[in-house]
Amino acid sequence: MITIALSKGRIFKETLPLLAAADIVPADDPENSRKLILDTNKSDIKLLIIRATDVPTYVQFGAADLGVAGKDVLMEHGGGGLYEPLDLKIAKCKLMTAGLVEPRPRISSRLRVATKFTNVARRYFESRGEQIELIKLYGSMELGPIVGLSDLIVDVVDTGNTLKANGLKPVDHIADISSRLVVNKAAMKMKYEQISAIIDQIGSAVS
Ligand code: ATP
Ligand code: PRP
Repeated sequence: MITIALSKGRIFKETLPLLAAADIVPADDPENSRKLILDTNKSDIKLLIIRATDVPTYVQFGAADLGVAGKDVLMEHGGGGLYEPLDLKIAKCKLMTAGLVEPRPRISSRLRVATKFTNVARRYFESRGEQIELIKLYGSMELGPIVGLSDLIVDVVDTGNTLKANGLKPVDHIADISSRLVVNKAAMKMKYEQISAIIDQIGSAVS
């Protein structure tokens, strides 16, 4: 049995054609089904439908053999216990810092940064020698600077429309992001033939 962890929405939609190239076709659409484990056309391949942020954790602990996760999520997780054999070149965006278009004076002596990417933000500002105060959020980060919760946010940006709609502007580029295929290290050894065939087929579809 091979299990593949995916989040619904953007990643599921953009991964479908890549799975199809490996002749893997889900039996249900997660938008219409409440099932968390989806059968596929192959009796020995199942899909686990989980939160995007949880994909590296399931794969790290071997609860899923393979997974698809954004590089942002992988950078935040740290990547332990995982191989990252393929850049799938889907769900492309950028990790950026952002702040008000018309900045206000600092809220406190240390720069305040609100984000769900606290590990990424800590490392990024440390590398610049800047002392910050981190505020962990789980979404709608754009509100932070507007309501005076933080000076800056760290979030993914694609078109920039969400920032613009909230009176924010991108400040610094942290990393280019795309989704990656990740593989549990033990599963790669134990199920080498099956997993490497899937990697090769998906890899050919990407390029
Ligand atoms: P969670 O549900 O765990 O909070 P999420 O809501 O960020 O995660 P998605 O919005 O489905 O999950 O995003 C999945 C991945 O897609 C992100 O990790 C990122 O790599 C990428 N992504 C996020 N927003 C965009 C965007 N606007 N354009 C392109 N790619 C994006
Ligand atoms: C993501 C992200 C940003 C937005 C950036 O949100 O959290 O808010 O996209 O994209 P843009 O630069 O093109 O506006 P998403 O639409 O995925 O909503 P969610 O985070 O609530 O899932």
